[in-house]
Amino acid sequence: MFNIVILAAGKGTRMNSTRPKVLHKLAGSAMLDRVIKNARGLNAENLFVVVGHEAAQVVSHVGTDNVTFIEQNPQLGTGHALQLAAPFLNDALPTMVLYGDVPLTKLSTLQRLASVAQQGLGLLTVHLENPAGYGRIVRDAQGCVVRNVEQKDATPAQLLIQEVNTGILMAPTAALKGWLQRLSNNNAQQEYYLTDIIAMAAQDGVAINTAHPDDLWETLGVNSKQQLAELEAVHRDMQACSLLNQGVTLSDPSRIDVRGDLICEKDVEIDVGCVFEGNVHLKSGVTIGPYCVIRNAVIDEGVAIAAFSHIDGATIGAGSKVGPFARLRPQTMLAENVHIGNFVEVKKSTVAAGSKINHLSYVGDAQVGSNVNIGAGTITCNYDGVRKHLTTIEDFVFIGSNTQLVAPVTVGAGATVAAGSVITKNVPAGGLSIARGKQVYIEGWKRPE
Ligand code: UD1
Ligand code: CA
Repeated sequence: MFNIVILAAGKGTRMNSTRPKVLHKLAGSAMLDRVIKNARGLNAENLFVVVGHEAAQVVSHVGTDNVTFIEQNPQLGTGHALQLAAPFLNDALPTMVLYGDVPLTKLSTLQRLASVAQQGLGLLTVHLENPAGYGRIVRDAQGCVVRNVEQKDATPAQLLIQEVNTGILMAPTAALKGWLQRLSNNNAQQEYYLTDIIAMAAQDGVAINTAHPDDLWETLGVNSKQQLAELEAVHRDMQACSLLNQGVTLSDPSRIDVRGDLICEKDVEIDVGCVFEGNVHLKSGVTIGPYCVIRNAVIDEGVAIAAFSHIDGATIGAGSKVGPFARLRPQTMLAENVHIGNFVEVKKSTVAAGSKINHLSYVGDAQVGSNVNIGAGTITCNYDGVRKHLTTIEDFVFIGSNTQLVAPVTVGAGATVAAGSVITKNVPAGGLSIARGKQVYIEGWKRPE
């Protein structure tokens, strides 16, 4: 268990946005939310977020459940941010410092840092070909860390050091509080540098150990839309890689976006340009055509989703076919072997096994039985302007094309409804119901000229 302090006060000038930097999204989640998720994964006993720029927006986005916000105005440096947090930190637990604009650190990397930090101060460092801009880790002849020096304060010799400070660290809290009191802003940026605690720890004889991430991008921060896009691409690659390793066929690994959790079973195929959001589960043998958006859905074995379909909050039974150009909205439940064709919208409806709604229809607030055929252009008129009403269509019903079913209404089992009907009363089982004007022939009628 830890105190965790997330620094998120910065302005993010280079994002060129009215939105606070840490609320910009990476793969569908605000960067800060990603960092908070990691903190929770680490079992943060006390979680603090230091806010400053557009603080109110950040606070209302995150909410105050199990998070304490600390306002830092003005922002006088990373050390100053920790000074403000210090009174709230529990001395009995170590303190980890994370950054709201460093969104892709793996939980396992932070756990590794925590384990090397057990006996003292732990630093997450990386070796960079080009260390420009970062604080450099200075070691003595024995290889022990003695201090950090910021780029702007470094000597030419120090500038050559390639081991850099990622900023992420973990410290024993009582000692940290003492070090923070001794910080000064007597440096090139006239800031209170959190990194100055490193030299203090060394002087106090506190062990300083370093841990390293598996991948460099885990420690990259975002200062511009360009850097955000770069990390988005890293995230996309990672997700694609993991799907390929699980045996998923991707037509182009660079053209899939997973903004949430996508679970794929065996022999899933995904064509280009698909976006997955929230929790999506694709069972064995599912194929997804190009340019589909799928959010919070469970798609059962062997289902084929054709191009340009939009699926949100639906479950789709085994062997069903959906699309192209289909839209399934929340609380749609399709049983096995259902066919939903082009330009069909289904909302808050259940469709039982073997039923077909193949063309240009709206089915909302409906219970559709098994082996039903719903003809082209059918509409369940579910809304009276105030309330929503239910349409029930029992098994083996045939609804002719261009039928309006004015809910609440029930169509009995095996009934046939003639094309073009406006059904306002319950339809008896079996037989044929027709509800439309009779065709007439007007002899000698002339078109207006
Ligand atoms: C910091 C480190 C540097 C490290 C680099 C890694 C210090 C002094 N330097 O430098 O060693 O290599 O990160 O990226 O810590 N923030 C606040 N309040 C403040 C100042 C900053 O919340 O008063 C937040 C910023 O919003 C940002 C983070 O802390 O998210 C880092 O601050 P920044 O000024 O960008 O630090 P660097 O100069 O990059
Ligand atoms: Ca700075």
